[in-house]
Amino acid sequence: MIFDNHNRPISYLRLAVTDRCNLRCFYCMPAEGIKYLPKQQVLSYEEMERVVRVLARLGVSKVRITGGEPFVRAGLMDFLHRLSGIEGIQELSLTTNGVLTAPHVADLAALGVRSVNLSLDTLDRDRFKKITRRDELPAVLKTLDLLLKAGIETKINAVVMDGQNTQDLIPLANLTRSLPVDVRFIEEMPFNGGGSHYPVLNWTYRRIVDELQEHFPGMQKQPGLPFSTSTTYQIPGHQGTIGVIAAFSRTFCGTCNRIRLTAQGTLKTCLYDDGVLDVRALLRSGSSDDILTDAFLHAFAHRPVNGFDAEQNRSLRFGGSISESMATIGG
Ligand code: GTP
Ligand code: 5AD
Ligand code: SF4
Repeated sequence: MIFDNHNRPISYLRLAVTDRCNLRCFYCMPAEGIKYLPKQQVLSYEEMERVVRVLARLGVSKVRITGGEPFVRAGLMDFLHRLSGIEGIQELSLTTNGVLTAPHVADLAALGVRSVNLSLDTLDRDRFKKITRRDELPAVLKTLDLLLKAGIETKINAVVMDGQNTQDLIPLANLTRSLPVDVRFIEEMPFNGGGSHYPVLNWTYRRIVDELQEHFPGMQKQPGLPFSTSTTYQIPGHQGTIGVIAAFSRTFCGTCNRIRLTAQGTLKTCLYDDGVLDVRALLRSGSSDDILTDAFLHAFAHRPVNGFDAEQNRSLRFGGSISESMATIGG
């Protein structure tokens, strides 16, 4: 196990396999989309597999596949199959918007994928269309149903947006009554790909919890899991749980065990940094595994203490605010 310069273990890789997406959520990108990376700038599956092998030897045991939308990249299932065979990788999971996922659910279960995080901000078809700019709610709900039937632990990610979906908090929380699902409400972050929408954090995790508590007075806080981004609650008698993720308030940095590799092969040691290592350049210049290992160790020894620190370093270097899309970063 490797520890960073703040004594946090590094055991979790978030791997973005593409920056492309089949939805256009307004909090992530403008209506016209973002300028996608040319294919040759995106890491090949072979390159990603090599990085995972090197990181697994350093103690990374969990890999979460993100995007963009992972299922828009051809060959994803074969890639997952190869990752699942890497020694040291004990947990393989993914975050998806659920539009193209349904046909793959049985294969995911067969591969040993035990948990999937599904983005779903509303249960109302019109609001879904407004938020994502696509009419795909039925496909997402089908995926949810299949995931639960396959016994895959499912978390729903709902970004809470002032004036957009706050009326969905209670209906979404009510899903936990009869479904064994973890519904998580997320503070909106300013990673919108340069769109005109800029979030104002009117809905902090505190306000979200207060709103839920008012409707469900019996709602109780549950013991937290180590390294989790969310604080968990449960309504007595309900099968599922409710989570709140203070993604913008960043209250969980003290136990952050995660690193990220973007689709273009940039290592980020914090969601809020601007990329600390060009892994693609190392891979494509013929670096040995030892050279890659040394570069990773150096990056882990210089991690920002928290997201505010990372953000400050970034604005000192570049000035201005973050205009990257979550689809490029990988969430
Ligand atoms: P697991 O703990 O593996 O289930 O993952 P997760 O819940 O952290 O990941 P998921 O991809 O479902 O992301 C949920 C939300 O948390 C998204 O809005 C992410 O951008 C946000 N998030 C994930 N990791 C971090 C992080 O390290 N810092 C911050 N600030 N937000 C994060
Ligand atoms: N703020 C908070 N969460 C976001 N996500 C995407 N963009 C944002 C944002 N601006 C979430 C999606 C997805 C996860 C990986 O990140 O809901 O589930
Ligand atoms: Fe980790 Fe940065 Fe997220 Fe904090 S903001 S939990 S340091 S990635």
